[in-house]
Amino acid sequence: MKHLGSASLLAISATFRTVVADVDWTTAYSKATTALGKLTNQEKIGIVTGTGWEKGPCVGNTSPVAKIGLPSLCLQDGPLGVRYAQNVSAFPAGIMAGSTWDVDLIRERGVAMGEEAKGLGIHVLLGPVSGPLGKNPRGGRNWEGFSNDPYLAGIAMAETIKGMQSAGVQANAKHYIGNEQEKFRGSATANIPDRVNHELYLWPFADAVKAGVASVMCSYNRVNGTYVCEHEGALEGVLKRELGFRGWVVSDWGAQHTTNGSAFAGLDMAMPGDGFGNNKYLWGESLATAVSSGEIPQSRLDDMVTRILASYYLVGQDKEYPSVQGWSSWNGGKGGPNVQGDHKKVARAIARDGIVLLKNEGNILPLKKPKSLAIVGSDAIVNPSGPNACVDRGCNIGTLAMGWGSGTAEFPYLVGPLDAIQAQAKLDNTTIVSSITDTPAEGATAAAAADTAIVFINSHAGEGYIVVEGSDGDRLTLSPAHNGNDLVRSVASSNPNTIVVIHSVGPLILEPILSFPSVKAIVWAGLPGQESGNGLADILYGKTSPSGKLPYTIARRDEDYGGDVKGGNGDDEYSEGLYVDYRYFDKRGIKPRFEFGFGLSYTTFTYSGLEITPSTLSPSIGLSSDLYDTIVTVTTAVTNNGTVAGAEAAQFYVSLPSSAPESPVRQLRGFKKVMLGVGESKTVKFDLRRKDLSYWDVVAQQWVMAKGEYTVWVGASSRDLRVSGVLRG
Ligand SMILES: *[C@@H]1O[C@H](CO)[C@@H](O)[C@H](O)[C@H]1NC(C)=O
Ligand SMILES: *[C@@H]1O[C@H](CO)[C@@H](O)[C@H](O)[C@H]1NC(C)=O
Ligand SMILES: *[C@@H]1O[C@H](CO)[C@@H](O)[C@H](O)[C@H]1NC(C)=O
Ligand SMILES: *[C@@H]1O[C@H](CO)[C@@H](O)[C@H](O)[C@H]1NC(C)=O
Ligand SMILES: *[C@@H]1O[C@H](CO)[C@@H](O)[C@H](O)[C@H]1NC(C)=O
Repeated sequence: MKHLGSASLLAISATFRTVVADVDWTTAYSKATTALGKLTNQEKIGIVTGTGWEKGPCVGNTSPVAKIGLPSLCLQDGPLGVRYAQNVSAFPAGIMAGSTWDVDLIRERGVAMGEEAKGLGIHVLLGPVSGPLGKNPRGGRNWEGFSNDPYLAGIAMAETIKGMQSAGVQANAKHYIGNEQEKFRGSATANIPDRVNHELYLWPFADAVKAGVASVMCSYNRVNGTYVCEHEGALEGVLKRELGFRGWVVSDWGAQHTTNGSAFAGLDMAMPGDGFGNNKYLWGESLATAVSSGEIPQSRLDDMVTRILASYYLVGQDKEYPSVQGWSSWNGGKGGPNVQGDHKKVARAIARDGIVLLKNEGNILPLKKPKSLAIVGSDAIVNPSGPNACVDRGCNIGTLAMGWGSGTAEFPYLVGPLDAIQAQAKLDNTTIVSSITDTPAEGATAAAAADTAIVFINSHAGEGYIVVEGSDGDRLTLSPAHNGNDLVRSVASSNPNTIVVIHSVGPLILEPILSFPSVKAIVWAGLPGQESGNGLADILYGKTSPSGKLPYTIARRDEDYGGDVKGGNGDDEYSEGLYVDYRYFDKRGIKPRFEFGFGLSYTTFTYSGLEITPSTLSPSIGLSSDLYDTIVTVTTAVTNNGTVAGAEAAQFYVSLPSSAPESPVRQLRGFKKVMLGVGESKTVKFDLRRKDLSYWDVVAQQWVMAKGEYTVWVGASSRDLRVSGVLRG
């Protein structure tokens, strides 16, 4: 692989464009440059090379340098809370946060995770995730991210990062890039076409950079045949030069393959340092030798260190940062200080507002003090051996509240659905009949003994190093686990008022369930984290009207999706191109079962009026504005014309002019969630940045606005578009 010599490295820094607006990189860099001047090369090497697997309290550790006051940096998983710790919160997974469509809750979740990490002395919390983006519905780690739509994922990335970093912890946008499946992730290549990369996979990382993210993790897989952590085009080229990323790139654990190649490519920190405990360090002494012999320029080593130090200063970790507490289970598992604060509130709000109501025939929900209620299915209760009984949540026993793997946390407690329902049943004098197995005959008996039956089913997935029920990460099927369809059939055949609650890592094929006439309601409860039962009960009993919307499409058949995990050697040509999820259904004219953005409420909303300002764009706008400048605003009025208060996530879609190269029929480019009392009306406003109206021109290598008419749409989902208008460009 060709690499940049030191001359081109200089050229890069000279032409550096400061695109990061929200954080003060300039001050951080000047502090970092001062500190760098005091360091020997040996000390620099210790900052960029992990100390080795399980050599230190955290999953990643660096060497301290006392004379500049730099501690050993602590890098710790993960994207939904602090892994390997007690007395921390286990927040709803990314996909549940995404399904709230609520930027305030997403930001608060980020703040809460940041506070907990800081409280334990963690410098870098390894999240949030937008790789996988989730193009393959069976991808094992899709649930760690927010949505397979790049716009929704990008906003959620930015809000999470701003939240985390405002609390003082460095965020880590991962896994960059093309890590769309678990199988063969360590060897397969993602051959992502340039436009597809810019408009889909890179998009949320660009938002992360714009939000000032301190660090990015390069993923295990290859891109175009080269390992990402060794890929100069992907790291130095796209991430650092094109996006203007000023933080540091860390390897996924063991994703570094060479001493020189990774250094030239733009890797800044090697983790865990050695190859998972084998004491083979690709950097460390080897990097020192390569630098002293001139094979790797001194400027590259200095660049690595400057980036790491600048990020440390950026979030203020040089000022009274807690030292690493004795919380890690690798340190004897004694547990550290209780850092949970009142975070259960935001955990519950997301467990509630991320729930998507898919069906509610005859308004069977909310429950109105039923005389009797049957609760059926093993997913209704917490694993009898405890919520943390399986290491890294590597099993599907009891209610599913997160996936498995490194992106997990220990539950401080887990409120099971049955417990929360029982608490309300006591107040309502409801008799509960339960069958907490997945045996259809037992479910039918319980269901026959009550007015209404709620049957719980789920679907699991996780990271590839653990095998659960035959699945080594990626999902084996888009049907429910444990023969859930049979359980539902059995319950529905003995109770005409059946409600199905689903905890799932991603979409399921619901056709069998929808074919049973007794299934009156379907509640999509996602992956809710520690407050599972409480969030669910809030919705089932109508304490809050459901307001979540699907962050992906639920198809009628597996084969209706554009992408799927690859067999063979896992190599993926990304042949679906731009047509992922709803973009594929729209292009092919496939009817989804429940479309992207869909979700019912206990109330109803109307949309009226559409104003586009300006309605004609000046011809120079594409040249004179920054990519992230708002160039158009669109407003519409949303009214709650139903009978209870509720929140609506209004969605903005755009269709590019016909002069643009072939593009998706329409794409999400804005959303706003508004709370509305009965009869209340509010104006929602969508701020469209230049990027939101552009396509990536592969020849010009830039974002371009096509000439002609843009059709803009606002609605309740990607297929329930209520008002539209035309923007002239
Ligand atoms: C911390 O967690 C441990 C283990 O779960 C528990 O025994 C202890 O009571 C917790 N401490 C606090 C302060 O919550
Ligand atoms: C992969 O190669 C294609 C074809 O040369 C190119 O268009 C694309 O930009 C490359 N992708 C990445 C992520 O570098
Ligand atoms: C680094 O590259 C040089 C050539 O530039 C080569 O001589 C050396 O063996 C390489 N070192 C390693 C560890 O790959
Ligand atoms: C529940 O029943 C008890 C006694 O049977 C009665 O006192 C109480 O008012 C009832 N509560 C409700 C909410 O119906
Ligand atoms: C709310 O408005 C919609 C659309 O105009 C209408 O179909 C629906 O009946 C109205 N709902 C109520 C409760 O009036």
